[in-house]
Amino acid sequence: MGVHSLRKRMVAGNWKMNGSLQSNRQLLDVVLPQTQLLSECDVLLCAPFVYLPQLQQAMEGTGFALGAQDVSVHAKGAYTGEVSGAMLADVGCRWVIVGHSERRQYHQESSAQVAAKVLAALGAGLTPIVCVGEQLADRQAGQAVCVVHDQLDPIKALGAQIVERVVLAYEPVWAIGTGLTATPQQAQDMHAQIRAFMGSDVVRILYGGSVKADNAAELFAMPDIDGALVGGASLDAQEFLRIVAA
Ligand code: PGA
Repeated sequence: MGVHSLRKRMVAGNWKMNGSLQSNRQLLDVVLPQTQLLSECDVLLCAPFVYLPQLQQAMEGTGFALGAQDVSVHAKGAYTGEVSGAMLADVGCRWVIVGHSERRQYHQESSAQVAAKVLAALGAGLTPIVCVGEQLADRQAGQAVCVVHDQLDPIKALGAQIVERVVLAYEPVWAIGTGLTATPQQAQDMHAQIRAFMGSDVVRILYGGSVKADNAAELFAMPDIDGALVGGASLDAQEFLRIVAA
């Protein structure tokens, strides 16, 4: 058995700021009966905060898992608009995305803050999915690996015991929502760099950035790609299921 097969595959849908009670219901009605897909793969739905209780109720007992898209670094108190890890756990989340590039870009989240969110999530019993990825200009300047290492540094500094409890997601910013996917080889090369840098054979590393049903299989065939973080395509139930099946 290769090391790759020791890491259970994972596909996480990141709905971003999309959905409604009605459209969520329609999507869940299609996705949740497909429990046969769960034997070899963890499948997560990461929804906006307000819809988490709706999803929890619908997903209970199915084996599909619930995630949020962000978590506060704080445990409780006077932090208007924030949601704590304990609150996420309270409504059934087991996972949370942290450091998504849209949070880094539009909310100025630093890599140090992302590391603090990792600890907040773990402290609440959630598994953080830590996103990293370079901008197009970084790649063109030959700086992609360096930028990603800088983003990972504060996570690595938390120590091996923490690193082995997180999931990493490599999402090149130029591939997110653009229809431009990294080639399987580009993604594999970065995943191998990340794995070597973090010094872990067991940490799962997802790829994200315009993953679709028709490019998923070739990405998943790569030895260091353990699954996907799927944005746009996770809003289409059939497309999402085809990615999981791949
Ligand atoms: P995309 O987004 O699949 O729409 O490119 C991925 C992500 O941002 O997680």
